[in-house]
Amino acid sequence: MAEKLELSTLGVRAGTARSDFSEHSEALFLTSSFVFENAAAAAAGFGDPGAGAGYVYSRYTNPTVTMLQDRLAALEGGEACIATASGMSAILAVSMVLLKAGDHVVCSNAVFGATVQLYATLLARFGIETTFVSPAKLEDWQRAVRPGTKLFYLETPSNPLGEVSDIAAIAAIAKKAGAALVVDNVFCTPILQRPLELGADFVVHSATKHLDGQGRVLGGAVIGRKGPVIDGLQAFLRTAGPSISPFNAWVILKGLETLEIRMLAQSERALALARWLEKHPKVERVHYTGLESHPQHALAKKQQRAGGAVLAFEVKGGKEAAWKVIDSTKLISITGNLGDVKTTITHPATTTHGRLKPEARAAAGIRDGLVRLAVGLEAVEDLKADLSRGL
Ligand SMILES: Cc1ncc(COP(=O)(O)O)c(C=O)c1O
Repeated sequence: MAEKLELSTLGVRAGTARSDFSEHSEALFLTSSFVFENAAAAAAGFGDPGAGAGYVYSRYTNPTVTMLQDRLAALEGGEACIATASGMSAILAVSMVLLKAGDHVVCSNAVFGATVQLYATLLARFGIETTFVSPAKLEDWQRAVRPGTKLFYLETPSNPLGEVSDIAAIAAIAKKAGAALVVDNVFCTPILQRPLELGADFVVHSATKHLDGQGRVLGGAVIGRKGPVIDGLQAFLRTAGPSISPFNAWVILKGLETLEIRMLAQSERALALARWLEKHPKVERVHYTGLESHPQHALAKKQQRAGGAVLAFEVKGGKEAAWKVIDSTKLISITGNLGDVKTTITHPATTTHGRLKPEARAAAGIRDGLVRLAVGLEAVEDLKADLSRGL
């Protein structure tokens, strides 16, 4: 699309490619391979697979996947996007393309648990070393740089405590160090935060979360500028195979059509609940970037359009009190997923962060009374009533 369009328009229109049947809703091309006119065309297709050269095999790419990629690239303000089977495979893929044995990574210590494992354990086996730093302390990012540093990685706001990393400032440090900055934009989505405009080189997504929005399928994506990294990612999919199913791509593509109204409505509900919880006598503290009391509210306001759907609160009385709140709910779902229109609740200390040693958990600020709420689209009054049962 040549003209500059608003996010709402891009969410429903960008990337649409009609087939010869002139369908209005985007088609689902549920096919593993594509046919050729003759042997010479097959030879040409295999030589240069990809959207431009025609379709060959859905591990390389597929028209429904291309539509998702083009729509997501437009929303993030990037030139290109490569969709993958899950969020973790997007993070793995971009790391495999950017890094080689002997390289060094600087990573926020407040990223998704599997991301920590990927850098600390899996990639470490292949000679890639990672230094974990505090997400908000710019001096830590600067101090961690060394001659082989090739990648900076962060997630903002962090899960579940909502620590905010200054994307523009960290991008400047990465640039000076000659490293690429990759930002996990799962919590805000391009509707609330556009890391590429703030200087990030690549954005990664777990499309499993808000991009789908209804907890149906797994998916992931990497978005950035056209060039060797995007070409490398395409080649990585062809060779290593963490490709997204066209069915999942179609579900997520249709999910993007309602992304803006969902993100704004879910953020509004999360803010209303955060304000209510902040005044509740049984609640010690609320962690939500949308609250004026959040220590990094000013920075969050600068780089985010709203606080997002996820908040955390500390209940007086530790684990017992937190479990009581969770177990007393009748409406809210007790599940680890987030980014759904159905509100979900979790106890980080015994689930997402349960494998950490108590000291590491304490260092990460995950206290026993902490409860995480990923707010959906139910009425705020119904959610308050559900939480009140155990508070
Ligand atoms: C912030 C964040 N990044 C990445 C992932 C991994 O995504 P997936 O589960 O789609 O592999 C998750 C999953 O919960 C996440 O919350």
